[in-house]
Amino acid sequence: MRIAEFALERFFARWEFAAKHLLCASDVEAWAMADVLALADDEARAMWDGLRLGYTESTGHPLLRAEIAALYETIEPDDVLVFAGAEEAIYCLANVLPGAGEHAIVGWPGYQSLYEVARAAGASVSLHALREADGWALDVERIRHSMHKNTKLVIVNAPHNPTGMLPTAAEWRALTDLCAEAGVHLLADEVYRYLEFDESDRLPAGADAFDRGISLGVMSKSFAMPGLRIGWLATRDRDLLARCAAIKDYTTICSSAPSEVLALIALRARDRVVARSREIVLGNLPVLDAFFERWPETFSWVRPRGGSIAFPRFHDKRMTIDRFAAELVEVEGVLIAPGSIFGMADGHFRIGFGRTDLPEALAGLESFATRTLS
Ligand SMILES: Cc1ncc(COP(=O)(O)O)c(C=O)c1O
Repeated sequence: MRIAEFALERFFARWEFAAKHLLCASDVEAWAMADVLALADDEARAMWDGLRLGYTESTGHPLLRAEIAALYETIEPDDVLVFAGAEEAIYCLANVLPGAGEHAIVGWPGYQSLYEVARAAGASVSLHALREADGWALDVERIRHSMHKNTKLVIVNAPHNPTGMLPTAAEWRALTDLCAEAGVHLLADEVYRYLEFDESDRLPAGADAFDRGISLGVMSKSFAMPGLRIGWLATRDRDLLARCAAIKDYTTICSSAPSEVLALIALRARDRVVARSREIVLGNLPVLDAFFERWPETFSWVRPRGGSIAFPRFHDKRMTIDRFAAELVEVEGVLIAPGSIFGMADGHFRIGFGRTDLPEALAGLESFATRTLS
């Protein structure tokens, strides 16, 4: 397969382990392994101590699949397929749905693989542009008008990377009803689920919404364990899962045995794991609010409603956000991701607020802005 470079990942390949402060990471401050093991119940601890490093079950450890299924209302363990992160799940799904010559509608700006893999696999993709002027909201009527006879899949990520958009319950219902009526699958990329700032805004999972709904989940973001590389698809469409499993035979075949047990431990203790992530994210928000209040002429944002990232805008006319970001990381060691990486070179940039060093990182940005812009 020939595929365009993943701009964000190439950017991180250059900077992720070179910059002192990642002010654009999308994950939440990662757990230490010893702390995860301390969460284990007796059964999982015995699994860890007695673990043999053989191949694992290709669909995922049955106990892990049961724990993932428990995150949903209508999902059985056999409706779950485990992958190496959400990224492998996207890759495998996009290789079977939409098929070559078929059509998908994908939110934009967004996580590039959500549209790039399907394109490379021979599908046609319409990007559903989210607009800052609309608060980055989904426009279900526009999605309806973009549907063709050969539309097979709609992909929506919520809470959204990079804007932090979260549809209202009514918008979500309108979207799931539209897809159900049209006989179209909906991939709900829910990797930031559980990080809704107001928990009453949490949406029904895509997999629970209707029989062609597919939920994409991962341990990386709200569960704060990206290094496990454990993600999953959940859907009642078992035939689709079987087709994805057949692609996985050509990627990783099966998951890492230690990661499966650690993910099982973490999901059994999910209330504590998610509470920690929420505390970090919600604790960082007032620091950002105060920053945007101090710089109304230079920086603005549509305040997100969930997740750990936002897509503010830089308004200074003397330099581009690309130059500001390049100098910021060189001088202060603080990394922000210019919008050009998302194909939107108009002053936007991504910030992440899931890391505990956000106050220092933001202070570095502010000190640099004070010296260079005032
Ligand atoms: C919206 C979205 N989907 C999927 C992924 C992939 O997750 P992972 O890197 O854990 O595989 C990411 C990662 O940033 C993401 O932001």
